[in-house]
Amino acid sequence: MAEVFRGKNVLVTGHTGFKGSWLCIWLIMLGAKVTGYALDPVHTEDNFVVTGLKDQMRDIRADVRDLMALQKTFAEVRPEFVFHLAAQPLVRYSYENPVGTYATNVMGTLNVLECIRHSEVTRVGVMVTTDKCYENKEQIWGYRENDALGGYDPYSASKGCAEILTTSYRNSYMNSKEYSRHGKSIATARAGNVIGGGDWALDRIIPDVIRALKEKRSVEVRNPEATRPWQHVLEPLGGYLRLAAKMYDHGEDYSGAWNFGPDFDSVCPVKTVVEAVIEAWGSGTWCSVGKENSPHEAGLLSLDCTKAKTLLGWKPKLKLKDAIAYTVEWYQSTEDKYELCVNQIERYESELRSI
Ligand SMILES: NC(=O)c1ccc[n+]([C@@H]2O[C@H](COP(=O)([O-])OP(=O)(O)OC[C@H]3O[C@@H](n4cnc5c(N)ncnc54)[C@H](O)[C@@H]3O)[C@@H](O)[C@H]2O)c1
Repeated sequence: MAEVFRGKNVLVTGHTGFKGSWLCIWLIMLGAKVTGYALDPVHTEDNFVVTGLKDQMRDIRADVRDLMALQKTFAEVRPEFVFHLAAQPLVRYSYENPVGTYATNVMGTLNVLECIRHSEVTRVGVMVTTDKCYENKEQIWGYRENDALGGYDPYSASKGCAEILTTSYRNSYMNSKEYSRHGKSIATARAGNVIGGGDWALDRIIPDVIRALKEKRSVEVRNPEATRPWQHVLEPLGGYLRLAAKMYDHGEDYSGAWNFGPDFDSVCPVKTVVEAVIEAWGSGTWCSVGKENSPHEAGLLSLDCTKAKTLLGWKPKLKLKDAIAYTVEWYQSTEDKYELCVNQIERYESELRSI
C-alpha cells in the first residue's frame, strides 16, 4: 500500500475522532501527505489529542455542513484520495438530536460528494457508513452488500440515507461505465462495532467499561445480551486502505459498497466483551442495569464479508481476544501514545503479511 499512498495528498474528514485519528497515523506511516477536516476533539484524552497528531499533519477545523469551507479545503489541498469519516456516530445521541444527526451525516456526505464531483484531481472517495445501514431483520445470517437498506433509529437511517445518496451520485456523475471520462471511483464502507485505544465516546461499551475500571466502579451494562460484530479499529481501516489502493489503480472495478466485519467467532454478546475486557484489565466487576426507558437498539447484527474477502483479498486477522488485548494495552500503557499507535499498526501489518 505504501507504493500507492507515498507522496499523495489525502483528505480525511473526521480526523479528530477515534477512527479518523488512527487512519491518519497509518496514512502518515505509508508516506501520504495527510490533511484532516473535522470539528474539535471532544475529550482531552482522545487519541487525536494524546498522540499529538495535529503536529504530524495538516489540521483543519471546520464543519462538513459548510459547503464553502469544504470547497476551499478541496481547492487548497487538491486531494487524490478522500476518506469521509466525519459524522455524528452515536445511536442514543441521535434520538436526542435527530436534526443535527441527519444534517451532518446526510448533508455533510452530500457536500463531500459534491466536492469530489467538481474536483479536478480527486480519484478515490471512500465514504464510511456502518453495518447499521441495513434494514435490520434480527436474522442470524450476515447482511450482504445488496441487502435492503433501512435504519430504525435516526443514526442508522441517516447512514442508510448516506448510502442511497452515494449510490445516486455514483450513478449520476461518477458512473463506472464512464470511468475513462471522469476517472473517479466512489465506494461506501460498512463496518461493525469497532474497538481500540483512544475512544472516549459516551454510550459505547469499551469507553464505558474503561471509565468504570479506572474509577474502580462496577461496570453497568445496559444490554448484556445484545449481539454485535466486534472488531479492532485496525481491521476496517486496513480494509478501507486496501480498497482505496485498488480503486486508485482500477477505479471502475472497485466502486460500490463493501462490508468489513469480523469473522463469526467475533460476533458475540456485549457481556462476553465486558468480561474479556475485565479479565485483560486484571480486575473489576460488571452488573446488568435495567433498560426501561432506553430507546430501541438493534439486538442481532452481523455482516457477510465474502465480497471483500474474494475481491480485495481482505480478511479480519485479529481474534476478539487479540483485539481486546490491543485495546487494553492502549488504555493501560504509560508510553508515548503516538509511538504506541505506530507500534500496534506495525504489529498488525506483520499479522496481515501472514495472510
Ligand atoms: N466507532 C464505531 O464503532 C463505528 C462503527 C461503524 C461505523 N462508524 C463510522 O465511522 C466514522 C468515524 O466514527 P468514530 O467512531 O471515529 O466517531 P468519532 O465521534 O470518534 O469521530 C467523529 C469525527 O467526525 C467529526 N465530526 C462530527 N460532526 C462533524 C461536522 N458537522 N463537521 C465536521 N466534522 C464533524 C468529529 O469532529 C470527529 O472528528 C463515522 O462515520 C461512524 O459513523 C463507527
